[in-house]
Amino acid sequence: MKFAKHASVPLVAVVASVLLLGCERPPPEVVQVGYRGLGMEQNYNPRLLAASVKENIPPEPLPAAAPGGPMVADVYKNVQVLSDLSVADFTRLMVAVTLWVSPKEGCNYCHVPGDFASDNIYTKVVSRRMFEMTQNTNADWKAHVVNTGVTCYTCHRGNPVPKYVWVTDPGPGQPSGVNPTGQNIAASTAAYSSLPYDPFTPFLDQANDIRVIGTTALPSGNNTSIKQAEWTYALMMQISDAMGVNCTFCHNTRSFFAWDQSRPQRTTAWYAIRHVRDINQNYLWPLNDVLPASRKGPYGDPFKVSCVTCHQGAYKPLYAAQMLKDYPALAGPTKAAAPEVAPDAAAPMEPAPVETAPVEVAVPTAQKL
Ligand code: HEC
Ligand code: HEC
Ligand code: HEC
Ligand code: HEC
Repeated sequence: MKFAKHASVPLVAVVASVLLLGCERPPPEVVQVGYRGLGMEQNYNPRLLAASVKENIPPEPLPAAAPGGPMVADVYKNVQVLSDLSVADFTRLMVAVTLWVSPKEGCNYCHVPGDFASDNIYTKVVSRRMFEMTQNTNADWKAHVVNTGVTCYTCHRGNPVPKYVWVTDPGPGQPSGVNPTGQNIAASTAAYSSLPYDPFTPFLDQANDIRVIGTTALPSGNNTSIKQAEWTYALMMQISDAMGVNCTFCHNTRSFFAWDQSRPQRTTAWYAIRHVRDINQNYLWPLNDVLPASRKGPYGDPFKVSCVTCHQGAYKPLYAAQMLKDYPALAGPTKAAAPEVAPDAAAPMEPAPVETAPVEVAVPTAQKL
């Protein structure tokens, strides 16, 4: 029996090498990203990179609106978030969000036909919160998105529901009583490894500990298990896949835990993980009551965000195209006009000033940097 199998080995080898040749055409390029001799390198296939760059070209900015004119608050009845804009700027933004979110469906995807002020349509209620989420991202998460920031297009790319969303995965059918963790199922969410298939729920919605490696020579005090490490590795596979990078984009693999041997990008990723939790916990979950069943998973949880929702295979979404600068209303909460201060109508809308200090985030006690 053993010998019979050997006959097919050369054939398998030939087929495999032809397939692999196809994947690697032309030869990948290697870029050194860390100190010499550490193997901190990124492998790029120039052909695939060129295709990815092509897919990530943002739309042209809309021409700027004419300055001056009446303000939103004086004209419209039900503008709660974007109240500090001129009607011209507001209209330009409405046209932009239509192009970014519902180009086929038009204004009425979010509006009751004939009554722009009405909130009697769930998509409008959702998108009002989306405006706040986008402003919060750009104002309070600069440690992650710097001044590049995001617009609705970063996630939506012309689709009412972004292409990459996730819900808690009940997993494949199992005999009753068996609680699957995902081992031995080649999951696309863990880059086709047989690691746990849902790295999202525990780490990007809930705030479970990602660190598993002990920091002392003897294993005193470190109670984490191999099973927990597998969840961490699943998340890391997902992150790498989402950004189109290798582990060495962030880590020196001789020591996955050491921050002083990691690249600065790992610190950015640390903030990014907290940022994504903030989006899912504080913006998407609270919308669950207004969402229809078609926008929920089998357990009734809302469609949520992960790294790939924005990054879509690029180390920086849209290869760091500077879209936000053309839509300053999305850069941060528009100031609510305080009654005692006269509004300065002549001042142009500008993005919030650059913050150089890192944004303060609550660090869970077990996860001090
Ligand atoms: C992706 C969703 C979305 C699309 C598409 C959209 N809008 Fe809106 N629109 C909103 C939201 C959300 C508000 C409320 C904003 C707020 O409360 O700050 C709003 C408010 C308005 C208002 C103010 C109405 C009032 O009296 O309160 C007008 C006018 C308006 N939109 C016009 C348009 C036009 C014209 C288009 C198409 C070019 C359009 N909108 C497309 C989401 C959308
Ligand atoms: C970080 C990614 C992200 C950004 C940025 C973002 N969205 Fe969304 N959006 C989502 C996700 C995830 C959903 C799915 C949740 C749901 O179904 O409501 C969604 C849903 C929506 C929906 C409901 C669509 C439907 O058919 O149910 C609308 C409308 C919408 N977004 C408008 C906007 C607008 C307008 C902006 C910019 C101000 C924006 N979004 C920015 C991630 C994003
Ligand atoms: C984009 C940056 C990034 C990439 C790429 C990345 N990681 Fe991580 N990794 C992190 C961050 C950030 C943490 C710490 C997360 C936290 O503490 O919340 C971490 C933590 C870890 C840990 C736990 C370290 C400890 O202290 O216990 C391991 C193990 C790990 N990564 C392995 C990997 C592997 C394997 C890959 C490639 C498949 C990878 N990482 C790719 C950013 C990254
Ligand atoms: C809301 C959209 C959004 C989501 C979701 C998102 N990112 Fe980002 N990320 C960005 C933007 C925008 C930039 C570009 C900032 C810049 O220009 O340097 C960025 C940059 C980064 C960088 C810096 C890359 C470099 O070369 O400096 C890292 C690392 C990163 N993100 C990790 C992550 C990880 C890990 C996740 C998931 C936990 C994630 N991001 C989710 C928008 C997002």
